[in-house]
Amino acid sequence: MTHEQLKIKLGHIKGLQSIVVGELHKFPSVHPIAYAPEAVYVNFIEDFKILTALRSVARVYVVAQDERFNPSYIANHKSVLGDLVGLVVNAEFKTFKISCAGDKSPEVRSIADYITTTFKLVEANDADLKIHIAHEIEFWEVGVQITPRPLSLRNYKINNMSGAMDPTIAYALNSLCQLEVAHSYLNIFSGSGTLAIEAALVYPNLDKVIGFDFDKKHISLAIGNITEAGLIKRIQLYEKDIFDKPDLGKFDVVVADVPFGMVISKGEDLEQLYTAFVDYSYSVLNSNGRLAIYTSQIDLILRVISKSHFKLLTRLDAEFTSSVGAHLKAGIFVFAKKQ
Ligand SMILES: C[S@@+](CC[C@H](N)C(=O)[O-])C[C@H]1O[C@@H](n2cnc3c(N)ncnc32)[C@H](O)[C@@H]1O
Repeated sequence: MTHEQLKIKLGHIKGLQSIVVGELHKFPSVHPIAYAPEAVYVNFIEDFKILTALRSVARVYVVAQDERFNPSYIANHKSVLGDLVGLVVNAEFKTFKISCAGDKSPEVRSIADYITTTFKLVEANDADLKIHIAHEIEFWEVGVQITPRPLSLRNYKINNMSGAMDPTIAYALNSLCQLEVAHSYLNIFSGSGTLAIEAALVYPNLDKVIGFDFDKKHISLAIGNITEAGLIKRIQLYEKDIFDKPDLGKFDVVVADVPFGMVISKGEDLEQLYTAFVDYSYSVLNSNGRLAIYTSQIDLILRVISKSHFKLLTRLDAEFTSSVGAHLKAGIFVFAKKQ
């Protein structure tokens, strides 16, 4: 297979496409060539591993597309897949899995035998090397994920909490807040610290990064993650309740992944909590500042905002399946003070 027949597929959360395309500007040799609801396809580059630096992308694959590339064609032309695996595989990969309809069929079994013998990999369910053969609308696609773990599983996340935010969404939210020209950043409801960590890693210009949460356990999870990210000197965390209106100074940007439903604030009145949060945000935000909110409670947040002095600047709607398998719809909203 020649490199002209290859593409790179950048898998992302549905709704984040504009963020992925924006982030690609970091790589002048890479440009979008096709789009799917949850992926941007870009031209193949030899040093495709540099794309693991993308923070809005969940998974990167090397793929080949052709109307002939169905499982029985690949079984008869195994080098099509062999070439892709050869580009990606290194000593890090010990196991592989083929995702494909009819994965018990003799064709797919013969492909698995070929991968086992040629690359000395062991077939496993939770595998390092992820291979797919999938029928897209006009063609078949054969692809290999270039890293054993998704890019969205950040190395700093040593502590996970239920209700934690996907880091690619945190990156997206931060990227809509003009942080390159900001100095101070407040993460209300900081939980395990995802938003503040993504901000401090990407924007070295931020000299005041503060988070607060009323749950001691969440603060200690966040401290673990912040330490792992090497940011313990840059991010300050406080154990505070929003209803106590903590005095932490003024900020250029205020962000929050607000508590929702059962998991985070059982028994609490969300409308009262969101009203306290929006009023507090208004009082601590500088006049040209930005307030960014991530929420699955879209109607409620918009109702509370409509009673405030904030105006909506940007909205992004995301859709994804949570770690427990639930289909979620959530929004990123960016507001400014009405002048
Ligand atoms: C959706 S979680 C944030 C998750 C976080 N973005 C992360 O990635 O880990 C909401 C957080 O709000 C906190 N919280 C709920 N009510 C609060 C209140 N009244 N004051 C301060 N924090 C509160 C919870 O303890 C929880 O950590």
